[in-house]
Formats: sequence, structure tokens, C-alpha cells
Amino acid sequence: MNILLTGGAGYIGSHAAVALIEAGHGVVCFDNFANSKPDVAVQVEQIAGAAPVMVEGDIRDRAALDRVFADHAIDAVIHFAGLKAVGESVALPLDYYESNVWGTACLLQAMKQAGVRKLVFSSSATVYGAPQYLPLDEAHPRSATNPYGRTKLIVEHMLEDLAASDPDWRIAILRYFNPVGAHASGLIGEDPNGLPNNLMPFVTRVASGRLPQLSVFGDDYETADGTGVRDYIHVVDLAQGHLAALDRIGADERALSVWNLGTGNGHSVLDLVRTFEAVNGVAVPYKIAPRRPGDVASCYAGPELARAELGWEAQRDLAEMCSSAWAFEKLVAIRNG
Ligand code: NAD
Ligand code: UFG
Repeated sequence: MNILLTGGAGYIGSHAAVALIEAGHGVVCFDNFANSKPDVAVQVEQIAGAAPVMVEGDIRDRAALDRVFADHAIDAVIHFAGLKAVGESVALPLDYYESNVWGTACLLQAMKQAGVRKLVFSSSATVYGAPQYLPLDEAHPRSATNPYGRTKLIVEHMLEDLAASDPDWRIAILRYFNPVGAHASGLIGEDPNGLPNNLMPFVTRVASGRLPQLSVFGDDYETADGTGVRDYIHVVDLAQGHLAALDRIGADERALSVWNLGTGNGHSVLDLVRTFEAVNGVAVPYKIAPRRPGDVASCYAGPELARAELGWEAQRDLAEMCSSAWAFEKLVAIRNG
């Protein structure tokens, strides 16, 4: 198949590009490079043996989208493009609604016009809001606690309405838990601009000395060691989950399906820090800081539905997430001189 990856130059998109090319698919990435660089195509080619086609464009630009569908015989779309920082979404909500909601509506209109009706959408465990029970299964009630989460929830509703309006659509909503780590080559990974919001990129930068110290946000949660518990999932496993979802919707009767992509295992902040130190032989100095507003104590997936329906489950453990993230950080440090 020829797959269009919106946001394909980004962290998860680049790993998905590798997995798709390795599985024999053609890949076209459509990205405005707001949070990525076009030369990731070189790294993807080094790993996978073929380069994705890179098209610079914005999902809010309908004419640019129409051109991509006209120029390439696209069979399916994986929609990664969007903005993803929770704090920024509180400060700049309109940017989030414009990119994530309006941008998705533009993409869906372009797909409809081009007659492309297979879509995999990057949603998030954030749509579950504060967990009412754990593990979180796909039937858990949804709510949003910040504008970013609300944009994901709105798009989920948009996709439900679309699937109900036309049974020819084949849509997969994938709810990611906490993607971390990097490709085993160390060539692609997560290197956010500015101060990282998320735990793993912060940890790698502290370990390499780019940042002085990690703040552990709260040690008084009702968890085994008092620090927050999350379901960290290796980004390569996550990428494989997209392949499984694409295969499944191709053969599916349903117009819309929803799957959690997580491991089902919760790890605390201190578990992650200690595992990182042990597998990589480096120190991660940290201090205990106040809780971060909006954080929950624990959040982890029920991965059974994905296992049963996609035949997919995460293979890589926390140690591999930590070692690959560190290998990537070291290459970034070399590249940055
Ligand atoms: P990322 O920022 O690395 O990738 C997103 C890509 O989209 C970037 O390359 C960016 O340049 C591009 N982009 C942004 N706005 C665009 C626009 N208007 N038009 C075209 N391209 C645009 O982020 P990621 O971690 O790879 O996340 C991918 C998707 O997964 C996002 O939708 C995100 O919300 C979702 N998600 C991520 C996480 C996570 O923790 N990383 C968790 C749950 C869900
Ligand atoms: N944490 C720290 N110090 C830091 C950063 C994070 O202690 O510097 C802690 C947090 O308090 C939390 C855990 O590490 O307990 C994980 O935090 P992240 O920011 O890495 O991830 P979140 O679970 O808060 O959120 C992430 C994405 C959201 C997404 C959610 C569920 O940022 O967009 O996973 O998929 F919605």
C-alpha cells in the first residue's frame, strides 16, 4: 500500500515510517516541520533501506492536501500531525483547536474528495480523563481536563459521526499511553525543542548533562513509592501497532474501531529513573518537587482488546526503552557537537 503519514517527520511518525517501509509499503510524509526536520528522511532511509517521500505542507491547507492526493496514489492515511504539549494548550488553546480539530477536518474533507477512506488516528489516553478504574479499557468514560485533551476528544467524536454517516469508512482510533524510547539504531528518537515536558526526554538530558537535575513531581501519591505511575510503551512497539491496525481495518466489517496501545504495566517515576541509571551506568540527579497540576496518581492500559483483535502486543521492556533513549541522546549530543 501507499500510506500518507501526516506528521510523518515527527517522533512517532518517523518510527512508523521505518516500520511501514520495512513491511514493504510506500510512505509519503506530509509535515510542516513545526516540530521536526525534513532530514529525518535520511535517517529513515539508513535504517529501512528506502526513503519516504517528504512533502512540506500544513494540514490546515486544503489545497496542499488535495495536491498530495492528486500526486500520489494514496491507499490509507495515518494522521499523526498536530500539537501535543498540554501546558502550551492551556496558554494557546486556539492554536490547538486550529491545528488539531480544524486541521483534521481539512484532512478528512480531502480524503473524502480523493476517495481515500482508510484512516488511523493518533489519539491519547488523555481522553480517559482522571481514571475511574484501572486498568483503563476502551469502554472507560471519556472526558477532557485540558484543551489538548479536548481536541483529541472532539476529533474522536468527529470520526464517530463520519463513520456513522458513511459505512465505507474504515477508521482506527489508537489511544496511545506513554510512548518513550528510540529505534535500536539510535538514529531516530525524541528530541523536543526547548525544555522537555515529558519525563523520558528530561531524564536523558539530565543524564547527558544538558540539564542539571530532574524534578520528580510529587512523592505523596497513593502508589508503591509515592511517585506517579504510567504505562510507558516503546515507540517501536507503538509503530508496529499501527501496522497491525492498518491490516485489521483493511479486512474489517466495522467502519470505526478503537484500540488502546499500551503495555498494561505501570511504572513509577522512580522505577524509570532507577532502571535508566542501572541499564546505562549513568547518574540521573533528581529532587522531589511539588505535584504537577493536572497529574493523576496512576494511569495504565488494559491492552487485551488490541491483543485479541489486532494480534499485537508490546514486546519491549522498560530497560530497552531506557537504553534506546540513551543511545539516541548520545548521538544527538555528537550531532550537536
Ligand atoms: P511530534 O511533534 O514529534 O510529531 C508531530 C508532527 O506533526 C511533527 O513533525 C510536526 O512538525 C507535525 N505538525 C504539527 N502541526 C502540523 C500541521 N498543522 N500540519 C502538518 N504537520 C504538522 O509528536 P509525536 O509525539 O510524534 O505525536 C504524534 C501524534 O501522537 C500527535 O497527534 C500526538 O498528539 C499523539 N500522541 C502523542 C503522545 C506522546 O506522548 N508522544 C501521546 C499520545 C498521543
Ligand atoms: N514527571 C516528572 N518530572 C518531569 C516530567 C514528568 O516527575 O520533569 C512525571 C509526571 O508527574 C508523571 C510522569 O512523570 O507522573 C509522566 O509524565 P509525562 O509528562 O511524561 O507524561 P503524562 O502521563 O503526564 O502525559 C503523557 C503525554 C500526554 C498524554 C498522556 C497519556 O504528555 O499528552 O501521556 O498518553 F495524553
